[in-house]
Amino acid sequence: MTTPLDLDSDLRPDLDAAAHDETPPWWRQAAVYQIYPRSFADADADGIGDLPGITSRIGYLASLGIDAVWLSPFYPSALADGGYDVADYRDVDPRLGTLADFDAMLAALHERGIKVVVDIVPNHTSDQHAWFQEALAAGRGSAARERYIFREGTGPGGAEPPTDWLSTFGGPAWERVDDGQWYLHNFAREQPDLNWDHPEVREDFVTTLRFWADRGVDGFRIDVAHMLSKDLTEPLPSRAELDLLPRDGSHPLLDRDDVHEIYAQWREVFNSYDPPRTAVAEAWVDPSRIHLYARPESLGQAFNFDLLEAAFHGPEFRRIVTDNLARTHGSSSSSTWVLSNHDVVRHATRYGLRGAEDPGLAPTKRAAQWLLDGGSRDEVDAERGHRRATAATLFVLGLPGSAYLYQGEELGLPEVSEIAPAQRQDPTYFRTQGAEIGRDGCRVPLPWRPDAPAFGFGDDGSHLPQPEWFGEFAVQRQEGDPASTLSLYRRALHLRRRLQGPEQLEWIETGRDDVLHFVRPGGWHVVTNFGEADYRLPDALAAGAGGIVLASADASGPVVPAEATVWIATH
Ligand code: GLC
Repeated sequence: MTTPLDLDSDLRPDLDAAAHDETPPWWRQAAVYQIYPRSFADADADGIGDLPGITSRIGYLASLGIDAVWLSPFYPSALADGGYDVADYRDVDPRLGTLADFDAMLAALHERGIKVVVDIVPNHTSDQHAWFQEALAAGRGSAARERYIFREGTGPGGAEPPTDWLSTFGGPAWERVDDGQWYLHNFAREQPDLNWDHPEVREDFVTTLRFWADRGVDGFRIDVAHMLSKDLTEPLPSRAELDLLPRDGSHPLLDRDDVHEIYAQWREVFNSYDPPRTAVAEAWVDPSRIHLYARPESLGQAFNFDLLEAAFHGPEFRRIVTDNLARTHGSSSSSTWVLSNHDVVRHATRYGLRGAEDPGLAPTKRAAQWLLDGGSRDEVDAERGHRRATAATLFVLGLPGSAYLYQGEELGLPEVSEIAPAQRQDPTYFRTQGAEIGRDGCRVPLPWRPDAPAFGFGDDGSHLPQPEWFGEFAVQRQEGDPASTLSLYRRALHLRRRLQGPEQLEWIETGRDDVLHFVRPGGWHVVTNFGEADYRLPDALAAGAGGIVLASADASGPVVPAEATVWIATH
Protein backbone atom coordinates (compact mmCIF):
# COMPACT_ATOMS: atom_id res chain seq x y z
CA MET A 1 0.00 0.00 0.00
CA THR A 2 1.37 3.42 -0.81
CA THR A 3 0.59 6.73 0.85
CA PRO A 4 1.04 9.79 -1.32
CA LEU A 5 2.90 12.71 0.18
CA ASP A 6 0.50 14.64 2.31
CA LEU A 7 0.42 18.06 0.69
CA ASP A 8 -2.27 20.66 0.73
CA SER A 9 -3.93 20.47 -2.62
CA ASP A 10 -3.14 24.10 -3.37
CA LEU A 11 0.57 23.34 -2.98
CA ARG A 12 0.48 20.42 -5.33
CA PRO A 13 0.81 22.46 -8.56
CA ASP A 14 4.15 23.77 -7.30
CA LEU A 15 5.33 20.24 -6.76
CA ASP A 16 4.21 19.23 -10.20
CA ALA A 17 5.91 22.23 -11.73
CA ALA A 18 9.16 21.32 -10.00
CA ALA A 19 8.79 17.74 -11.12
CA HIS A 20 8.35 18.68 -14.74
CA ASP A 21 11.10 21.25 -14.92
CA GLU A 22 13.55 19.55 -17.21
CA THR A 23 16.65 21.43 -16.21
CA PRO A 24 16.32 22.23 -12.53
CA PRO A 25 19.14 24.42 -11.23
CA TRP A 26 22.09 22.51 -9.78
CA TRP A 27 21.55 23.54 -6.17
CA ARG A 28 18.08 22.01 -5.84
CA GLN A 29 19.35 18.50 -5.23
CA ALA A 30 23.06 18.96 -4.74
CA ALA A 31 25.32 17.02 -2.43
CA VAL A 32 27.30 19.82 -0.80
CA TYR A 33 30.44 19.00 1.17
CA GLN A 34 31.35 21.47 3.89
CA ILE A 35 35.06 22.20 4.23
CA TYR A 36 36.31 23.82 7.41
CA PRO A 37 39.46 25.15 5.71
CA ARG A 38 41.67 25.45 8.79
CA SER A 39 41.18 21.75 9.49
CA PHE A 40 41.12 20.15 6.06
CA ALA A 41 44.71 19.97 4.74
CA ASP A 42 47.78 22.02 5.57
CA ALA A 43 50.06 22.57 2.56
CA ASP A 44 52.58 24.97 4.14
CA ALA A 45 53.25 23.14 7.40
CA ASP A 46 52.12 25.71 9.94
CA GLY A 47 49.53 23.50 11.63
CA ILE A 48 46.65 25.38 9.97
CA GLY A 49 44.82 24.07 6.95
CA ASP A 50 44.88 26.32 3.89
CA LEU A 51 43.56 26.85 0.38
CA PRO A 52 46.53 25.20 -1.38
CA GLY A 53 45.82 22.26 0.94
CA ILE A 54 42.32 22.05 -0.50
CA THR A 55 43.70 22.30 -4.05
CA SER A 56 46.10 19.47 -3.28
CA ARG A 57 43.13 17.25 -2.43
CA ILE A 58 41.02 17.95 -5.51
CA GLY A 59 41.33 14.32 -6.57
CA TYR A 60 39.87 13.22 -3.25
CA LEU A 61 36.97 15.67 -3.50
CA ALA A 62 36.22 14.67 -7.08
CA SER A 63 36.29 10.99 -6.23
CA LEU A 64 33.70 11.53 -3.50
CA GLY A 65 31.05 12.39 -6.06
CA ILE A 66 29.93 15.67 -4.53
CA ASP A 67 28.36 18.49 -6.52
CA ALA A 68 29.68 21.43 -4.53
CA VAL A 69 31.88 22.44 -1.65
CA TRP A 70 30.92 25.05 0.91
CA LEU A 71 33.94 26.69 2.49
CA SER A 72 33.62 28.01 6.02
CA PRO A 73 35.36 31.42 6.33
CA PHE A 74 38.94 31.65 5.05
CA TYR A 75 39.15 35.44 5.36
CA PRO A 76 41.66 37.34 7.51
CA SER A 77 40.61 36.78 11.08
CA ALA A 78 42.01 36.92 14.60
CA LEU A 79 40.26 33.56 15.10
CA ALA A 80 38.21 34.59 18.10
CA ASP A 81 35.45 32.42 16.61
CA GLY A 82 37.16 30.05 14.20
CA GLY A 83 37.11 32.59 11.36
CA TYR A 84 33.49 33.74 11.86
CA ASP A 85 35.10 36.96 13.08
CA VAL A 86 36.03 38.45 9.73
CA ALA A 87 38.57 41.28 9.58
CA ASP A 88 38.41 41.75 5.81
CA TYR A 89 35.64 40.25 3.69
CA ARG A 90 37.50 40.62 0.42
CA ASP A 91 40.77 38.87 1.09
CA VAL A 92 42.27 35.55 2.18
CA ASP A 93 43.87 35.08 5.59
CA PRO A 94 47.64 35.06 4.88
CA ARG A 95 47.92 31.87 6.93
CA LEU A 96 45.49 30.24 4.48
CA GLY A 97 46.93 31.64 1.27
CA THR A 98 46.32 34.47 -1.15
CA LEU A 99 43.61 35.54 -3.57
CA ALA A 100 45.70 33.88 -6.29
CA ASP A 101 45.51 30.64 -4.29
CA PHE A 102 41.76 31.09 -4.08
CA ASP A 103 41.50 31.55 -7.84
CA ALA A 104 43.65 28.47 -8.44
CA MET A 105 41.50 26.40 -6.04
CA LEU A 106 38.29 27.63 -7.65
CA ALA A 107 39.54 26.84 -11.14
CA ALA A 108 40.67 23.37 -10.09
CA LEU A 109 37.31 22.62 -8.45
CA HIS A 110 35.40 23.94 -11.44
CA GLU A 111 37.50 21.87 -13.76
CA ARG A 112 36.34 18.78 -11.89
CA GLY A 113 32.72 19.93 -12.07
CA ILE A 114 32.53 20.95 -8.41
CA LYS A 115 30.71 24.19 -7.58
CA VAL A 116 31.96 26.51 -4.84
CA VAL A 117 29.90 28.15 -2.09
CA VAL A 118 31.53 30.66 0.25
CA ASP A 119 30.41 31.76 3.69
CA ILE A 120 29.27 35.35 4.24
CA VAL A 121 29.15 36.61 7.83
CA PRO A 122 27.03 39.77 7.77
CA ASN A 123 25.70 40.07 11.32
CA HIS A 124 29.04 41.08 12.80
CA THR A 125 32.62 41.84 11.83
CA SER A 126 35.78 41.08 13.74
CA ASP A 127 36.86 43.75 16.22
CA GLN A 128 40.02 43.86 14.04
CA HIS A 129 38.01 45.04 11.01
CA ALA A 130 39.11 48.51 9.80
CA TRP A 131 35.61 49.88 10.47
CA PHE A 132 35.61 48.81 14.08
CA GLN A 133 39.13 50.08 14.68
CA GLU A 134 38.05 53.37 13.15
CA ALA A 135 34.96 53.44 15.38
CA LEU A 136 37.07 52.91 18.49
CA ALA A 137 39.50 55.67 17.50
CA ALA A 138 36.83 58.15 16.39
CA GLY A 139 35.05 58.16 19.72
CA ARG A 140 31.46 58.66 20.87
CA GLY A 141 29.07 60.42 18.59
CA SER A 142 31.27 59.84 15.52
CA ALA A 143 29.99 58.72 12.14
CA ALA A 144 32.29 55.69 12.37
CA ARG A 145 30.42 54.40 15.43
CA GLU A 146 27.16 54.51 13.49
CA ARG A 147 28.17 51.44 11.52
CA TYR A 148 27.96 49.42 14.72
CA ILE A 149 25.60 49.49 17.68
CA PHE A 150 27.06 51.75 20.33
CA ARG A 151 25.01 52.94 23.32
CA GLU A 152 25.56 54.69 26.64
CA GLY A 153 25.52 52.48 29.70
CA THR A 154 23.08 52.66 32.58
CA GLY A 155 23.56 53.22 36.30
CA PRO A 156 26.01 55.62 37.95
CA GLY A 157 28.59 56.76 35.42
CA GLY A 158 27.05 54.48 32.78
CA ALA A 159 29.01 51.63 34.33
CA GLU A 160 26.29 49.06 33.71
CA PRO A 161 25.48 47.72 30.22
CA PRO A 162 22.53 49.25 28.36
CA THR A 163 20.51 46.05 28.87
CA ASP A 164 20.92 42.65 30.53
CA TRP A 165 20.98 40.80 27.18
CA LEU A 166 23.18 37.73 26.91
CA SER A 167 25.44 36.76 24.04
CA THR A 168 24.79 33.47 22.24
CA PHE A 169 28.17 32.23 23.45
CA GLY A 170 27.43 33.13 27.10
CA GLY A 171 28.14 36.24 29.15
CA PRO A 172 26.82 39.74 28.48
CA ALA A 173 25.99 40.90 24.96
CA TRP A 174 27.53 44.35 25.56
CA GLU A 175 31.17 45.31 25.96
CA ARG A 176 32.46 48.62 27.28
CA VAL A 177 35.12 50.55 25.38
CA ASP A 178 37.74 52.89 26.84
CA ASP A 179 35.68 56.07 26.60
CA GLY A 180 32.80 54.43 28.48
CA GLN A 181 30.37 53.60 25.66
CA TRP A 182 29.13 50.06 25.13
CA TYR A 183 28.74 48.09 21.91
CA LEU A 184 26.45 45.18 21.14
CA HIS A 185 27.85 41.76 20.26
CA ASN A 186 25.42 38.90 19.98
CA PHE A 187 28.35 36.47 19.76
CA ALA A 188 31.89 36.89 21.14
CA ARG A 189 33.17 40.24 22.38
CA GLU A 190 35.47 40.24 19.34
CA GLN A 191 32.41 40.13 17.02
CA PRO A 192 30.68 43.53 17.18
CA ASP A 193 27.23 43.53 15.56
CA LEU A 194 26.84 45.72 12.51
CA ASN A 195 24.11 48.34 12.17
CA TRP A 196 22.14 47.16 9.15
CA ASP A 197 20.17 50.42 9.03
CA HIS A 198 23.36 52.07 7.82
CA PRO A 199 23.51 52.50 4.03
CA GLU A 200 27.28 52.00 3.94
CA VAL A 201 26.92 48.62 5.62
CA ARG A 202 24.40 47.59 3.00
CA GLU A 203 26.53 48.87 0.14
CA ASP A 204 29.67 47.24 1.41
CA PHE A 205 28.13 43.78 1.56
CA VAL A 206 26.87 44.15 -1.99
CA THR A 207 30.44 44.98 -2.97
CA THR A 208 31.60 41.85 -1.14
CA LEU A 209 29.02 39.63 -2.82
CA ARG A 210 30.00 40.99 -6.21
CA PHE A 211 33.69 40.59 -5.40
CA TRP A 212 33.30 36.83 -4.93
CA ALA A 213 30.63 36.35 -7.59
CA ASP A 214 32.88 38.14 -10.11
CA ARG A 215 35.69 35.74 -9.20
CA GLY A 216 33.35 32.91 -10.13
CA VAL A 217 31.92 31.53 -6.89
CA ASP A 218 28.62 29.78 -7.46
CA GLY A 219 26.84 30.53 -4.22
CA PHE A 220 26.85 31.86 -0.70
CA ARG A 221 26.04 30.46 2.73
CA ILE A 222 24.65 33.25 4.86
CA ASP A 223 25.66 33.12 8.51
CA VAL A 224 22.93 33.79 11.11
CA ALA A 225 20.76 35.21 8.36
CA HIS A 226 17.90 35.88 10.78
CA MET A 227 19.73 38.39 12.97
CA LEU A 228 20.84 41.27 10.76
CA SER A 229 17.84 43.52 11.11
CA LYS A 230 17.15 44.99 14.56
CA ASP A 231 14.74 47.48 16.03
CA LEU A 232 16.71 49.26 18.73
CA THR A 233 14.25 52.03 19.45
CA GLU A 234 14.62 53.26 23.05
CA PRO A 235 13.69 52.21 25.66
CA LEU A 236 15.32 48.86 24.98
CA PRO A 237 13.47 45.86 26.42
CA SER A 238 14.99 43.69 29.13
CA ARG A 239 15.97 40.09 28.50
CA ALA A 240 12.83 38.88 30.28
CA GLU A 241 10.68 41.18 28.14
CA LEU A 242 12.41 40.00 24.98
CA ASP A 243 11.73 36.39 25.86
CA LEU A 244 8.02 37.09 26.09
CA LEU A 245 7.75 38.78 22.71
CA PRO A 246 6.29 36.74 19.87
CA ARG A 247 8.66 35.63 17.14
CA ASP A 248 6.28 36.64 14.40
CA GLY A 249 8.44 39.01 12.41
CA SER A 250 8.14 41.90 14.84
CA HIS A 251 10.66 40.77 17.47
CA PRO A 252 13.28 43.51 18.01
CA LEU A 253 16.29 41.22 17.50
CA LEU A 254 15.37 38.03 15.67
CA ASP A 255 13.81 37.01 12.39
CA ARG A 256 12.31 40.39 11.62
CA ASP A 257 10.20 40.66 8.49
CA ASP A 258 12.26 43.60 7.28
CA VAL A 259 15.44 41.49 7.08
CA HIS A 260 14.07 40.32 3.72
CA GLU A 261 14.49 43.83 2.31
CA ILE A 262 18.22 43.18 2.59
CA TYR A 263 17.90 39.82 0.86
CA ALA A 264 15.66 41.21 -1.87
CA GLN A 265 18.53 43.54 -2.77
CA TRP A 266 21.00 40.65 -2.63
CA ARG A 267 18.71 38.58 -4.83
CA GLU A 268 18.95 41.28 -7.51
CA VAL A 269 22.71 41.00 -7.27
CA PHE A 270 22.62 37.18 -7.47
CA ASN A 271 20.25 37.28 -10.42
CA SER A 272 22.44 39.73 -12.31
CA TYR A 273 24.86 36.83 -12.90
CA ASP A 274 24.52 34.05 -15.40
CA PRO A 275 23.84 31.57 -14.01
CA PRO A 276 22.28 33.31 -11.02
CA ARG A 277 24.29 32.86 -7.84
CA THR A 278 22.66 30.77 -5.14
CA ALA A 279 22.35 31.35 -1.43
CA VAL A 280 21.42 29.26 1.56
CA ALA A 281 20.33 30.80 4.84
CA GLU A 282 21.48 29.68 8.24
CA ALA A 283 18.38 30.87 10.05
CA TRP A 284 17.45 29.49 13.45
CA VAL A 285 13.80 30.52 13.33
CA ASP A 286 10.42 29.06 13.98
CA PRO A 287 9.87 26.30 11.38
CA SER A 288 6.75 28.09 10.18
CA ARG A 289 8.89 31.04 9.07
CA ILE A 290 11.86 29.33 7.44
CA HIS A 291 10.22 29.44 4.00
CA LEU A 292 10.53 33.24 4.05
CA TYR A 293 14.30 32.84 3.66
CA ALA A 294 13.94 30.05 1.10
CA ARG A 295 11.68 32.04 -1.24
CA PRO A 296 13.15 32.75 -4.66
CA GLU A 297 12.88 36.49 -4.02
CA SER A 298 14.89 36.11 -0.79
CA LEU A 299 17.92 33.84 -0.36
CA GLY A 300 16.39 30.93 -2.26
CA GLN A 301 17.22 28.07 0.10
CA ALA A 302 17.50 27.62 3.88
CA PHE A 303 19.07 25.03 6.12
CA ASN A 304 16.72 22.66 7.83
CA PHE A 305 18.32 21.53 11.08
CA ASP A 306 15.47 19.31 12.24
CA LEU A 307 17.23 16.01 11.55
CA LEU A 308 20.43 17.26 13.11
CA GLU A 309 18.46 17.87 16.29
CA ALA A 310 16.46 14.63 16.19
CA ALA A 311 17.12 11.28 17.82
CA PHE A 312 17.63 8.24 15.58
CA HIS A 313 13.95 7.44 15.68
CA GLY A 314 11.72 6.35 12.79
CA PRO A 315 8.51 8.25 13.54
CA GLU A 316 10.48 11.40 14.29
CA PHE A 317 12.40 11.16 11.01
CA ARG A 318 9.18 10.60 9.07
CA ARG A 319 7.43 13.56 10.63
CA ILE A 320 10.40 15.82 9.93
CA VAL A 321 10.66 14.74 6.30
CA THR A 322 6.95 15.16 5.65
CA ASP A 323 6.80 18.57 7.33
CA ASN A 324 9.87 19.89 5.57
CA LEU A 325 8.91 18.72 2.12
CA ALA A 326 5.54 20.40 2.50
CA ARG A 327 7.21 23.58 3.74
CA THR A 328 9.77 23.81 0.99
CA HIS A 329 7.27 23.12 -1.72
CA GLY A 330 5.36 26.03 -0.22
CA SER A 331 8.36 28.30 -0.81
CA SER A 332 9.12 26.68 -4.19
CA SER A 333 12.63 25.99 -2.93
CA SER A 334 14.05 22.52 -2.39
CA SER A 335 14.59 21.05 1.03
CA THR A 336 17.96 20.71 2.70
CA TRP A 337 19.13 17.93 5.02
CA VAL A 338 21.93 18.20 7.53
CA LEU A 339 23.18 15.65 10.06
CA SER A 340 26.51 17.24 11.01
CA ASN A 341 28.33 20.54 10.65
CA HIS A 342 31.06 22.54 12.37
CA ASP A 343 28.75 23.60 15.22
CA VAL A 344 27.52 20.28 16.60
CA VAL A 345 28.79 16.99 17.99
CA ARG A 346 29.36 14.65 15.04
CA HIS A 347 26.44 12.34 14.31
CA ALA A 348 28.50 9.13 14.61
CA THR A 349 28.97 10.06 18.27
CA ARG A 350 25.55 11.59 18.92
CA TYR A 351 23.81 8.40 17.88
CA GLY A 352 26.10 6.20 19.95
CA LEU A 353 25.71 8.03 23.25
CA ARG A 354 23.96 6.02 25.90
CA GLY A 355 20.52 7.48 26.35
CA ALA A 356 20.56 8.83 22.78
CA GLU A 357 17.59 6.66 21.82
CA ASP A 358 15.27 8.59 24.10
CA PRO A 359 13.30 10.81 21.72
CA GLY A 360 12.33 13.04 24.65
CA LEU A 361 15.93 14.12 25.21
CA ALA A 362 17.29 16.49 22.57
CA PRO A 363 20.37 14.64 21.28
CA THR A 364 22.35 17.84 20.89
CA LYS A 365 21.68 18.61 24.57
CA ARG A 366 22.57 15.05 25.55
CA ALA A 367 25.82 15.39 23.62
CA ALA A 368 26.65 18.75 25.21
CA GLN A 369 26.10 17.24 28.64
CA TRP A 370 28.32 14.30 27.76
CA LEU A 371 31.14 16.67 26.82
CA LEU A 372 30.64 18.54 30.05
CA ASP A 373 30.80 15.33 32.06
CA GLY A 374 34.26 14.68 30.63
CA GLY A 375 33.35 13.12 27.28
CA SER A 376 34.26 9.59 28.31
CA ARG A 377 34.42 7.18 25.39
CA ASP A 378 32.90 4.55 27.69
CA GLU A 379 29.64 6.48 27.41
CA VAL A 380 29.59 5.93 23.65
CA ASP A 381 28.72 2.73 21.90
CA ALA A 382 30.94 3.56 18.95
CA GLU A 383 29.81 0.68 16.78
CA ARG A 384 26.20 1.50 17.25
CA GLY A 385 26.83 5.19 16.64
CA HIS A 386 28.59 4.36 13.40
CA ARG A 387 25.90 1.91 12.33
CA ARG A 388 23.17 4.44 12.93
CA ALA A 389 25.15 7.29 11.39
CA THR A 390 25.64 5.50 8.08
CA ALA A 391 21.99 4.35 8.10
CA ALA A 392 20.86 7.95 8.66
CA THR A 393 23.23 9.24 5.98
CA LEU A 394 21.90 6.85 3.35
CA PHE A 395 18.37 7.79 4.37
CA VAL A 396 19.17 11.48 3.92
CA LEU A 397 21.03 10.99 0.63
CA GLY A 398 17.90 9.32 -0.72
CA LEU A 399 15.62 12.23 0.10
CA PRO A 400 14.54 14.83 -2.44
CA GLY A 401 16.50 18.07 -2.00
CA SER A 402 20.10 18.95 -1.15
CA ALA A 403 22.22 17.10 1.35
CA TYR A 404 24.90 19.01 3.24
CA LEU A 405 27.76 16.80 4.42
CA TYR A 406 30.48 17.83 6.83
CA GLN A 407 34.15 17.00 6.24
CA GLY A 408 35.18 13.84 8.05
CA GLU A 409 31.75 12.26 8.22
CA GLU A 410 32.69 10.28 5.10
CA LEU A 411 35.38 8.68 7.26
CA GLY A 412 32.91 7.85 10.03
CA LEU A 413 34.87 10.23 12.23
CA PRO A 414 33.61 10.46 15.81
CA GLU A 415 33.73 13.60 17.97
CA VAL A 416 37.05 14.28 19.71
CA SER A 417 36.22 14.88 23.34
CA GLU A 418 39.68 14.66 24.85
CA ILE A 419 40.92 18.21 24.26
CA ALA A 420 42.71 19.81 27.21
CA PRO A 421 41.35 23.16 28.43
CA ALA A 422 44.54 24.95 27.39
CA GLN A 423 44.10 23.69 23.82
CA ARG A 424 40.46 24.65 23.43
CA GLN A 425 39.62 27.43 20.98
CA ASP A 426 35.84 27.82 20.99
CA PRO A 427 34.73 31.12 22.54
CA THR A 428 31.71 29.31 24.00
CA TYR A 429 34.06 27.45 26.33
CA PHE A 430 35.71 30.61 27.59
CA ARG A 431 32.62 32.81 27.77
CA THR A 432 30.75 30.26 29.86
CA GLN A 433 33.79 29.57 32.06
CA GLY A 434 33.71 25.98 30.88
CA ALA A 435 30.01 25.42 31.57
CA GLU A 436 29.70 24.66 27.86
CA ILE A 437 32.54 22.78 26.22
CA GLY A 438 31.81 24.02 22.72
CA ARG A 439 32.55 22.91 19.20
CA ASP A 440 36.27 22.15 18.98
CA GLY A 441 35.73 18.38 18.97
CA CYS A 442 34.20 18.35 15.48
CA ARG A 443 36.84 20.73 14.09
CA VAL A 444 39.95 18.64 14.68
CA PRO A 445 42.07 18.42 11.49
CA LEU A 446 41.31 15.43 9.28
CA PRO A 447 43.43 12.26 9.35
CA TRP A 448 44.74 11.50 5.86
CA ARG A 449 47.42 8.91 6.57
CA PRO A 450 47.74 6.61 9.58
CA ASP A 451 51.52 6.82 9.91
CA ALA A 452 52.49 10.37 9.05
CA PRO A 453 53.04 13.49 11.17
CA ALA A 454 49.66 14.99 12.12
CA PHE A 455 48.13 11.98 10.36
CA GLY A 456 48.98 13.49 7.01
CA PHE A 457 47.11 16.74 7.69
CA GLY A 458 50.40 18.64 7.38
CA ASP A 459 54.04 18.38 8.28
CA ASP A 460 53.96 20.48 11.39
CA GLY A 461 51.28 19.39 13.80
CA SER A 462 47.68 20.48 13.90
CA HIS A 463 46.11 23.52 15.50
CA LEU A 464 43.71 21.32 17.50
CA PRO A 465 45.17 18.12 18.94
CA GLN A 466 44.38 14.89 17.09
CA PRO A 467 43.91 11.88 19.37
CA GLU A 468 45.97 8.73 18.95
CA TRP A 469 43.03 6.77 17.63
CA PHE A 470 42.60 9.15 14.68
CA GLY A 471 44.84 6.97 12.51
CA GLU A 472 42.19 4.23 12.41
CA PHE A 473 39.97 6.60 10.44
CA ALA A 474 42.62 7.85 8.03
CA VAL A 475 41.66 8.27 4.38
CA GLN A 476 44.57 6.14 3.22
CA ARG A 477 43.44 3.24 5.39
CA GLN A 478 39.90 3.38 3.99
CA GLU A 479 40.73 4.12 0.39
CA GLY A 480 41.19 0.61 -0.92
CA ASP A 481 38.76 -1.09 1.44
CA PRO A 482 35.36 -1.74 -0.14
CA ALA A 483 33.84 -2.18 3.31
CA SER A 484 35.02 1.24 4.60
CA THR A 485 32.79 4.19 5.37
CA LEU A 486 34.62 6.19 2.70
CA SER A 487 33.80 3.58 0.07
CA LEU A 488 30.17 3.58 1.18
CA TYR A 489 29.93 7.37 0.85
CA ARG A 490 31.57 7.28 -2.58
CA ARG A 491 29.25 4.60 -3.86
CA ALA A 492 26.24 6.37 -2.36
CA LEU A 493 27.12 9.75 -3.86
CA HIS A 494 27.80 8.32 -7.31
CA LEU A 495 24.66 6.21 -7.29
CA ARG A 496 22.60 9.12 -6.01
CA ARG A 497 23.55 11.09 -9.10
CA ARG A 498 22.41 8.27 -11.31
CA LEU A 499 19.15 7.58 -9.47
CA GLN A 500 18.15 11.17 -8.80
CA GLY A 501 14.87 12.21 -10.39
CA PRO A 502 12.16 14.76 -9.65
CA GLU A 503 11.85 16.10 -6.12
CA GLN A 504 9.16 13.74 -4.98
CA LEU A 505 8.77 10.78 -2.70
CA GLU A 506 6.01 8.43 -1.77
CA TRP A 507 5.90 6.64 1.57
CA ILE A 508 5.28 2.93 1.54
CA GLU A 509 3.74 1.60 4.71
CA THR A 510 5.80 -1.15 6.33
CA GLY A 511 3.53 -2.05 9.22
CA ARG A 512 6.27 -0.96 11.59
CA ASP A 513 6.76 2.61 12.72
CA ASP A 514 10.48 1.99 13.21
CA VAL A 515 10.93 1.03 9.56
CA LEU A 516 10.63 3.81 7.00
CA HIS A 517 10.30 3.05 3.33
CA PHE A 518 9.97 5.61 0.59
CA VAL A 519 10.25 5.45 -3.14
CA ARG A 520 11.48 8.14 -5.49
CA PRO A 521 10.24 8.56 -9.06
CA GLY A 522 11.84 5.98 -11.31
CA GLY A 523 11.77 3.25 -8.69
CA TRP A 524 14.55 4.20 -6.24
CA HIS A 525 13.51 2.66 -2.93
CA VAL A 526 15.06 3.66 0.37
CA VAL A 527 14.31 1.48 3.37
CA THR A 528 15.66 2.34 6.82
CA ASN A 529 15.27 0.05 9.78
CA PHE A 530 15.53 2.28 12.86
CA GLY A 531 14.63 -0.64 15.11
CA GLU A 532 16.48 -3.60 16.54
CA ALA A 533 14.55 -6.43 14.90
CA ASP A 534 15.35 -7.44 11.31
CA TYR A 535 12.91 -6.23 8.70
CA ARG A 536 11.99 -8.52 5.82
CA LEU A 537 11.52 -6.67 2.54
CA PRO A 538 8.28 -7.31 0.65
CA ASP A 539 8.90 -10.28 -1.68
CA ALA A 540 8.09 -8.38 -4.84
CA LEU A 541 10.63 -5.73 -3.99
CA ALA A 542 13.35 -8.08 -2.86
CA ALA A 543 13.02 -10.01 -6.09
CA GLY A 544 12.68 -6.86 -8.24
CA ALA A 545 14.85 -5.83 -11.16
CA GLY A 546 17.95 -4.17 -9.72
CA GLY A 547 17.69 -5.58 -6.21
CA ILE A 548 19.67 -4.01 -3.39
CA VAL A 549 22.15 -1.59 -4.93
CA LEU A 550 23.55 -0.24 -1.69
CA ALA A 551 23.35 -1.05 2.00
CA SER A 552 24.80 0.57 5.09
CA ALA A 553 25.28 -2.87 6.66
CA ASP A 554 25.56 -6.41 5.41
CA ALA A 555 22.21 -6.90 3.71
CA SER A 556 22.55 -8.98 0.61
CA GLY A 557 19.38 -11.00 1.23
CA PRO A 558 15.78 -9.82 1.54
CA VAL A 559 16.37 -8.65 5.12
CA VAL A 560 17.22 -5.16 6.33
CA PRO A 561 19.13 -5.68 9.55
CA ALA A 562 18.75 -3.53 12.67
CA GLU A 563 19.74 0.10 12.28
CA ALA A 564 20.53 -0.07 8.59
CA THR A 565 19.43 1.46 5.31
CA VAL A 566 19.22 -0.23 1.93
CA TRP A 567 18.69 1.25 -1.50
CA ILE A 568 16.86 -0.77 -4.09
CA ALA A 569 16.57 0.21 -7.73
CA THR A 570 13.72 -1.28 -9.69
CA HIS A 571 14.45 0.30 -13.04
C1 GLC B 1 26.98 30.56 12.89
C2 GLC B 1 28.19 29.70 12.60
C3 GLC B 1 28.97 29.55 13.86
C4 GLC B 1 29.41 30.93 14.33
C5 GLC B 1 28.21 31.87 14.50
C6 GLC B 1 28.64 33.30 14.65
O1 GLC B 1 26.09 29.94 13.73
O2 GLC B 1 27.79 28.48 12.06
O3 GLC B 1 30.08 28.73 13.70
O4 GLC B 1 30.07 30.81 15.56
O5 GLC B 1 27.38 31.81 13.37
O6 GLC B 1 29.16 33.79 13.46
